[in-house]
Amino acid sequence: MAEVVVVGSANVDLVLAVPRIPRPGETLLASGLTRGPGGKGANQAVAAARAGASTTFIASLGADDGGAMLREVLGESGVDHSLVSTSTSPTGTAIITVAADGENSIVVAPSANADLKLSAEALEAVGQAKVVLAQLEIPFGTVQAAAEASAYFILNAAPAAELSDELLAHVDLLVVNETEAEAVAGSEFAALLDRVPAAVVTLGAEGALILSRDAAEIRIPGVSVEVVDTTAAGDTFCGVLAATLAAGSTTARDLTNAVRRANVAASLSVKTAGAIPSVPHGDVIDARLAEVYL
Ligand code: RIB
Repeated sequence: MAEVVVVGSANVDLVLAVPRIPRPGETLLASGLTRGPGGKGANQAVAAARAGASTTFIASLGADDGGAMLREVLGESGVDHSLVSTSTSPTGTAIITVAADGENSIVVAPSANADLKLSAEALEAVGQAKVVLAQLEIPFGTVQAAAEASAYFILNAAPAAELSDELLAHVDLLVVNETEAEAVAGSEFAALLDRVPAAVVTLGAEGALILSRDAAEIRIPGVSVEVVDTTAAGDTFCGVLAATLAAGSTTARDLTNAVRRANVAASLSVKTAGAIPSVPHGDVIDARLAEVYL
């Protein structure tokens, strides 16, 4: 039985290094092209495992080179991928542009991710996990099924989408960036609590905001760092948050400590290029955590 189950996407990331994010209708020449493992679900599962949680990943991959690369990196990172299914569609692909200032833009071809359904075994793993984490690069029906079967369900509502009351009724903790928060509840962050009992809004370099029906709003300041690539910073945050909550409790106090650790982990991830290659390990996170919160 895993402490954390992640239900989500896995992609081959094709990353183009560009001077800036292209404008509509514009053609730019990239200074580099790399191929690596990614996908919000895979990134989050690796982040949870590297942060110290026993982690199972439920996903759908193609029977191709990309699928083999992802299975290998998941295994090397200590993620149980025995419930990852093989689709007749190719593995998902993400085209990512990374600008000189580290900002990115991402377009995903879901492919095999669109075929993800929860088998009886997968539902059992979800039901037994301490914490279940999902995002929105897989079918909504699959996210709904995972939410209904979970004891404690974290939804990272990325990419941004309008969400049904039916789904949000099963969400214990919502994690969103500013754009995603607006898609769920409009421009006032406090309105998120009309829809879910607790939420974390990630604010990039400005840190994160914790909102809970049971406690006062708490602002966790950002951690200053030299940015190379912001890809998967949000995923690192979510995976480390899930792992840290699974190791303790989900009370407001433990949530604050978990957000601090997730925030530090995300700040470490932006120092390295790529998605999964940038996800830090628990010992590195905790050494930096001790420095930041001395
Ligand atoms: O959040 C970053 C991830 O988004 C990338 O790894 C890409 O695959 C997309 O899923």
